[in-house]
Amino acid sequence: MTAVGIDAVEIWTGNLKLDLPGTFAPEKGEDPEKYTKGLGLNASSFPDSYEDIVTMGANAAHRLMERKGLEPDDIGRIDVATESAFDNSKPVSTYVAGCLEQVYEGDFHHANKGERKFACIAGTQSLDDAYNWIRAGRNRGRSALVIATDTALYARGDDGEATQGAGAVAMLISEDPNLVELSAEQGYGSADETDFLKPNQQFPSVDGKRSVQVYLARMREALEDFESVAGEVHEEDFVYAPFHTPFPGMVRKAALLAFRHVTRDTEVEDELADEIGRQPRPEAFDSDDDYRDALREYMDLLKDTDRYAEWYDTTIDPTLTISREVGNWYTGSVHVARASALKHALENDRDLAGTKLLVGSYGSGAQAEIHAETIREGWAEEIDALNVDAQLAERYEMEWADYEEIHDAHNHEMDVDIEEFTTPSEEFVFDGWGRMGERKYRYVD
Ligand code: CAA
Repeated sequence: MTAVGIDAVEIWTGNLKLDLPGTFAPEKGEDPEKYTKGLGLNASSFPDSYEDIVTMGANAAHRLMERKGLEPDDIGRIDVATESAFDNSKPVSTYVAGCLEQVYEGDFHHANKGERKFACIAGTQSLDDAYNWIRAGRNRGRSALVIATDTALYARGDDGEATQGAGAVAMLISEDPNLVELSAEQGYGSADETDFLKPNQQFPSVDGKRSVQVYLARMREALEDFESVAGEVHEEDFVYAPFHTPFPGMVRKAALLAFRHVTRDTEVEDELADEIGRQPRPEAFDSDDDYRDALREYMDLLKDTDRYAEWYDTTIDPTLTISREVGNWYTGSVHVARASALKHALENDRDLAGTKLLVGSYGSGAQAEIHAETIREGWAEEIDALNVDAQLAERYEMEWADYEEIHDAHNHEMDVDIEEFTTPSEEFVFDGWGRMGERKYRYVD
């Protein structure tokens, strides 16, 4: 069976930066270490006044097409995943195609376009759609363009304001891919939950503490479901585990649970038994409360073992380096985590071809999905082509007053006319409104 997966990836960050410990924390009267150590964040990316989900998505896709030498005829499908859409009918992918058609001679008239919604997991669902389309033999030799793009802004004063971000990830899904092959096996954990939602409103209604618990519960279900089709997962099976990263501290919680799960009944549990005892089993306790107390105690001890710290530093921490500097990109977040891990491997001369990733996606509302990816021979060349470090370094760093102004400018309920902080160059920009309320875009050389 021909491999199907991600052939290439591009990342496009919003052009503005907010320093969280340096600028945000003092204004909130909070300890900067809540951000750096607690949430695990240094900065957030924000869109400048001329940026939105279309410009960021089109810019990522344009860079990807240029680098891969693609023309519109090579693309048979464009799917945009977002939870920041501004139209209930016309999909963002039509706007993105319209932008790209300004800079290519051909057009995308024969490409199937759509928009996927299920909170942050929609980016991964769009990958599934592209994978299935190719596997079904409907692609006529063409590739799919999957774009995950979001402005993850929260209402001013909401707890989530600390975890904001804005950016896009574009991925090319093809047969015989250069970067990773997707596994046919998948596991799901899905339930009707009220943890984070946007009932026809721009900024989310969030029950932050509950959302953390729902993330962990659905991820656990997804892992068990994945194991039921792919066999038991062990820690040595995967070189990295990129997970949805609303903020790195969330992944730190998930990683500890995952490590406990994958080391249960293994030599690692035996090895650790002298130091911290064996994992508590429910059948050994008279009540659920006693079992839960014992589990908490075991987890506290496990977290401080060298064995766990070494696994975390090798397998999880490298997935978080970009996220620490950009915040939450919702649908793009797990795809940023994958890129972050592979970039770390390239910088450390790791030979990854043939090894595997365990990828965990999550969307509030709520659903988690877990699958495996096999890293392909061409991975290093693809990752070497990313210019994410330069993009991050070139962001304009906002002062507090700038942040207040740009948040208002992106608030759909306010009519704010502000100067741009940066000068666009070689990118698509928002260019005002059309006669039917549509958004207009142009390319700036
Ligand atoms: N030094 C070190 N650590 C500190 C600290 C200090 N001075 N002050 C606080 N901390 C730690 C806290 O102990 C806490 O860590 P633990 O959870 O490990 O104990 C961490 O920093 C955060 O502190 P708080 O819990 O006090 O922070 P908060 O209540 O203000 O907000 C939040 C946390 C509720 C997650 C909030 O950021 C939020 O609502 N975020 C949006 C929702 C979200 O991202 N949920 C994640 C799961 S849902 C999802 O994944 C979908 C999605 O993308 C939105």
